[in-house]
Amino acid sequence: MNKNYYITTPIYYPSAKPHMGHAYSSIVADFFARFKRINGYKVFFLTGTDEHGLKIQRAAEKNKKKPLEFCDEISQTFKELSKTLNLSNNEFIRTTELRHHESVKKLWNILEKKGEIYLSQYSGWYSVSDEAFYSDEEIENKNGTKVSKSSGSLVEWVEEESYFFKLSNWQEKLLKFYEKNPNFILPKSRKNEVVSFVKSGLKDLSVSRKSFSWGIQVPTNKDHVIYVWLDALTNYISALNYPDTDNNLYKNYWPADLHMIGKDILRFHAVYWPAFLLAADLPTPKRVYGHGWILSGEEKMSKSKGNILDPLEIINDYGLDQLRYYLLKEVSFGNDGNISKEKLISCINSDLANNFGNLCQRVLSFTEKNLSLIVPNPENFNNDDLKILNNFTNNYNELIEFVDNQNINSYMNFIVDQMFNGNKYFNDQEPWKKKNNQKRLNTIIYTSLELIRKISILLYPVIPNASLKALNIFNIKEKMINIETITNNKFLNPGEKINKINILFNKVDSND
Ligand code: ME8
Ligand code: MG
Repeated sequence: MNKNYYITTPIYYPSAKPHMGHAYSSIVADFFARFKRINGYKVFFLTGTDEHGLKIQRAAEKNKKKPLEFCDEISQTFKELSKTLNLSNNEFIRTTELRHHESVKKLWNILEKKGEIYLSQYSGWYSVSDEAFYSDEEIENKNGTKVSKSSGSLVEWVEEESYFFKLSNWQEKLLKFYEKNPNFILPKSRKNEVVSFVKSGLKDLSVSRKSFSWGIQVPTNKDHVIYVWLDALTNYISALNYPDTDNNLYKNYWPADLHMIGKDILRFHAVYWPAFLLAADLPTPKRVYGHGWILSGEEKMSKSKGNILDPLEIINDYGLDQLRYYLLKEVSFGNDGNISKEKLISCINSDLANNFGNLCQRVLSFTEKNLSLIVPNPENFNNDDLKILNNFTNNYNELIEFVDNQNINSYMNFIVDQMFNGNKYFNDQEPWKKKNNQKRLNTIIYTSLELIRKISILLYPVIPNASLKALNIFNIKEKMINIETITNNKFLNPGEKINKINILFNKVDSND
C-alpha cells in the first residue's frame, strides 16, 4: 500500500497581501496534511506563489517597483502567513525560481515536439485579474464595461500572435477520463459543471503572450512568454524537481493525491491541467477539490474587490487555533461561507472554552486533588465507560473515510459530540461522590483521561497548538501522535505521572 500523500494549495498571486480566502485554503490543506501524517502517511504538503503574468507586472508598475522586487516583497508576506497559520508545508515554491523555469520549459518542449502546440493569431477577450480568456458567451455588459459573467472581472480585447494548445483534441479524452475517475473532481456539483463545460465544446487554448515580457520565455521563440496558467500549474511538479523524474520526490509523490483549490480556479485545474499532462504523457493528479468562497457580505472576498478581512487581525484578536477551529467547523465545506465575529466568539466560548477546555481542567484538577496526578489503575469498565470509549473504536474507519472524502464537517461533528459527551460523562458519573469507592473513582478518572487523550488526537489536524498542549498532559509529543491509538481504551499507563497545563482557551467577552 502506497503510504505517501501529496497535497497542494493553489500558488497565490503576490499582487497584494494575503487575505482570509487564502488563509482558508491553506488551513484546510493543512488539516488534511496533518491528518494524513498521524495516519501513518509520509506527506508532502506544498504551497507557494504564482509570480508571472500581466496581473503581477501591472501590480508592480502601480507600485513603482520592478516585478521581481515587488514579488520578493509580497511573496515574503505569504511565506510569513504560512508560519503564522502554523502550516506544516514541506515546501514553498515561487514560480520565479530557476528550477521552476526549467520545468516549465521542459513541459513546453514536450508539448511542442508532440505537435500539441502551434503558432497562430489570438483575438478575443482577456481578463487580467483572472488571467483567463473568455468567449463572447462568457462575458456581459455591466455599467458600460464588459466583464466576465463568472468572476465579474473586467475583460479587455486582445489581438496578437499566439501559440495555441490543441485543447479541442482532448475533449473526448477528458470526458472519458472523468468517467473513469469519477472522484477526480469534487464536490460532485462542481464536477457536473466542469463536465458540461467540456461537453459544450473545447476550443484550442492560447498559451503564450507577445505584448508583455514578465514571464517564462517560449524556449523556441523569445518574442513570446508562456501563458501564466501553463506556467503556474507546472509548479505542482517543478516542486518535485521535474523534469528529473528519477528523483525521490517525483517518484514518491507524483501524481498528487489532492489539489485543494477554490472553485474560482476549477476549470484550470480540472480541464487544462489534466489535458496538458495527458498530452505530455505524464500522470494526472488523483483529485481536485474546489471548495467554496469566504464571502464578505454577499460577495466573494477578493483583492480586486477590496472587501478583504485580514487574517492577521483576527488571529491577533482571538488566536490562531480559534480561527482554524472556526473556519473548519463553521464553514459548510464545499459551499460558500460568511465570516461572522458572533459565530467565531460562540465557537470559542462554547466549543473550545466550555467544552474542550473545561473537560481538561476539571479532570486534571480532580486528578491532582485526589490522585496526585498519577494515572489510576482502572477496574473493569462498566457499560457507561465502554459506551463512551468505544465510540472512537466504532467510528474509527468512518473517520478515516470522512477525511478521505474531504468531509470535514462530519469529522468536526464527531469531535463536537465527543467533547459534549465527555463533559456529560464526567458530570453524570460524579467522581466527587465516589470517594468511598476508590476502584470506581479510579475507573472514572482513567476513562476521562482516555477521553481527553482521544479527543486531543482528533483535534490535532484542526488546532495543532492546543492539541499538543493537551497531549502534553500525557507526555505525548508531536512525532508520537498516531490516530489509530484512539481505538485503544487502555493506552495510558497506570502509575505514570501526568502534567498540569494552563487554561487552553479563555472565554471571549462578546462586547470586546
Ligand atoms: O488564482 N474564499 O491565485 P489567487 C475562499 N495564482 N478561498 C479564496 C478566496 C475566497 N474569498 N479568495 C481566494 C490564483 N481564495 C492563481 C492560482 S494555482 C496553480 C494558481 C483562495 O491569489 C482559493 O483557493 O487569486 C482560490 O482558488 C485561490 O485563493 C486563488 O488565489
Ligand atoms: Mg484570484
